Amino acid sequence: MAMGSKFSEFNQIAPVSFGVGAVSEIADKVKMFGGSSAMLVYDGGVKASGMADRVKGLLEEAGIAVACFDDVKPDPTDASCEAIAEIAVAAGCDIVVGLGGGSVLDTSKMVALILKTPGPIAPHFLTNGLNPPVPIAPLILIPTTSGSGSELSCVAVVSHHEDHAKDAVFASASFVILDPELTVTGPKHVTAFAGLDAMAHAMESFTSASADPMSMLLSLEAIRLVAENLRRAYDDGTDIEARSNLSFASAIAGMAFNNTGLHFGHSFGHELGGAFNLPHGMASSYAIPTVIKFTAKNDPARAAQIAKVFGVDTPEEAVKAVLDLQKYVGIKKFSENGITVEAAQAIAEDAIAHNVFFHNTVVPISVDEFKELIADIITTYDAY
Ligand SMILES: [Fe+2]
Repeated sequence: MAMGSKFSEFNQIAPVSFGVGAVSEIADKVKMFGGSSAMLVYDGGVKASGMADRVKGLLEEAGIAVACFDDVKPDPTDASCEAIAEIAVAAGCDIVVGLGGGSVLDTSKMVALILKTPGPIAPHFLTNGLNPPVPIAPLILIPTTSGSGSELSCVAVVSHHEDHAKDAVFASASFVILDPELTVTGPKHVTAFAGLDAMAHAMESFTSASADPMSMLLSLEAIRLVAENLRRAYDDGTDIEARSNLSFASAIAGMAFNNTGLHFGHSFGHELGGAFNLPHGMASSYAIPTVIKFTAKNDPARAAQIAKVFGVDTPEEAVKAVLDLQKYVGIKKFSENGITVEAAQAIAEDAIAHNVFFHNTVVPISVDEFKELIADIITTYDAY
């Protein structure tokens, strides 16, 4: 059931144009939203790949003015987004195009928000309370990685610039272009982190207290697609079939978790990533095996469905399948990152406080139980 309602309710944030070459439609889509002056937001990797020049060229050929910001850094803060929005305001932009991974997409959401609702971002942080979304400018998101799901979620994950604590702001795309061809140049580690992030979204959505029939259909299929395609895309980035399946998996996992929320895996991942400076997808994927074990204990029927999509008979074998995949794509042990059980357990209280969705598990978890789960996450991964 959808959060806040006793009835099953399913929303999709935006229309999605999906397929190899779909980015060629960008100028038509900008015009569809009445855009004449676009702010194109991306990062150094997207710039180096030539993709940004291609999109800029497609827009300019169609008579659309383009202002660019080419250096988005990972894990955006309110201050970093506000600085980029100033460029868009100065250029008189009326639409935002975000081209990149999760950090670029979330930054683009905040630029679109400030264009329509001028002023600082801080008052819109969800830790201030669940205020209704404020108006944002038209926003087209074009993911170049398959993982964040940000393109189809109703929030941007943004950190406070002072303490770098992760927070979130309501902001949704107007339109999504999902072109698997744009993901083929992604480096191996990005493919690995993003793919496992998508699996973590799907796993936590499927096992959340808010799961509903539609989201479960999507999250189970996303788990299956990542399990079957991530090794292929990791081994050969140009495998367009595997890339297409991962693009689709990431998007439908995003649709699912946007309706259900996540739970303890991402609470842990967000806080761990912030405290030990780990990439989001890596930090958030560590909990997947323990999420399966937790589900086997508290909701065996759902755990059985998880086993089925891995093509195995028991949740224990599904746990092994995930660990095999994580090891295959080079996810480091906690010990290699210099993280002890005690140090990770010390972030438990903050992980709960900073991530309201923590309580979205099928049975409630106390702080002490969460610390036990954290120990299990680490010993499971490091001992395997
Ligand atoms: Fe994530």
